[in-house]
Amino acid sequence: MKITVSAPGKLMLFGEHTVVYGRPCIVTTVGQRMKVTVELLDKPLFQLNAPDVQIESYQKPITNLGKGDISKGVRFVEFAVKNFGIKKGGLKIITKSQFNSSFGFGSSSAATVCVIKALSELTGKKLSNKQIFDLSYKTVLDVQGKGSGFDVAAATYGGTLYFVTEGKTIKPLNLPSLPLIVGFTGIKADTVTIVNQVLEKAKKYPNIIENIYTAIQTIVALARKSLIKEDFQTVGELMNFNQGYLVALGVSSQKLDNMINLSKDAGAYGAKLSGAGVGDCMIALALPSKVKLVKNAITKAGGQIINVKTNVEGVRIEA
Ligand code: PMV
Repeated sequence: MKITVSAPGKLMLFGEHTVVYGRPCIVTTVGQRMKVTVELLDKPLFQLNAPDVQIESYQKPITNLGKGDISKGVRFVEFAVKNFGIKKGGLKIITKSQFNSSFGFGSSSAATVCVIKALSELTGKKLSNKQIFDLSYKTVLDVQGKGSGFDVAAATYGGTLYFVTEGKTIKPLNLPSLPLIVGFTGIKADTVTIVNQVLEKAKKYPNIIENIYTAIQTIVALARKSLIKEDFQTVGELMNFNQGYLVALGVSSQKLDNMINLSKDAGAYGAKLSGAGVGDCMIALALPSKVKLVKNAITKAGGQIINVKTNVEGVRIEA
């Protein structure tokens, strides 16, 4: 028995970092998907091929899941299977991504969600989206120790979500596809390292950082309303405010700043980094008449344009 499922990548629109500390964020999904095929085996083996992260013919006894030295590319899938719990036989898993894992589109979380969904179907357990979210989020925490879970929610539910830490609130926002322009810095950011750097700042300057988080929370609340109204000028202005606070948190970089500033000079309503910062991607919002100019500006700043459709379907069965 075999099944293929897919889940979308994500882009953080508003509220990165603050969402780790009990506050809301807004995340959208992108058309590029992670695809995972899971096949039940008679023998008690765990086999994995993940060519996008250079994992070929990885194999171990299914009783050894989670044990030993496990490479980064294997961890999320292996812990997902361990947490789901397979009673008998084994599994052969193949992952294939439609996006580069350096983009910060959440490939690990999307793969985790796909594995849990596939196992839920293959074993006849038919977990709800909330159950898939909970088990996948537990897996992400087991592997990396930190994270708000927003990327897991995006991969599970799809669309554009208003999300509060640990999935305390997960509300879909009824929106059309957003006119976003995405630029990749070419640099892979390490989320946990950057989250820890912000934590250190918060220890030294608790009042300042708390005020920044509160300001970002206000921006998220306003952005939610403006997005629903499709008032993209205000959404862009709020992106600029959010970016200002991310700079204050110390998570932007010269490359991101250049890409963002040149986008605005080229006529974008607004632009900001998306995700942990330092590297990964930036996003800009612009009128259709300005898109070409903004794309050229991002390229001039050394960024790579990634064309995305936003606000797409969550985890689904492919075959
Ligand atoms: O896109 P990522 O996985 O780098 O996450 C960035 C968002 C953070 O708020 C910094 C972390 C999180 O888990 O919410």
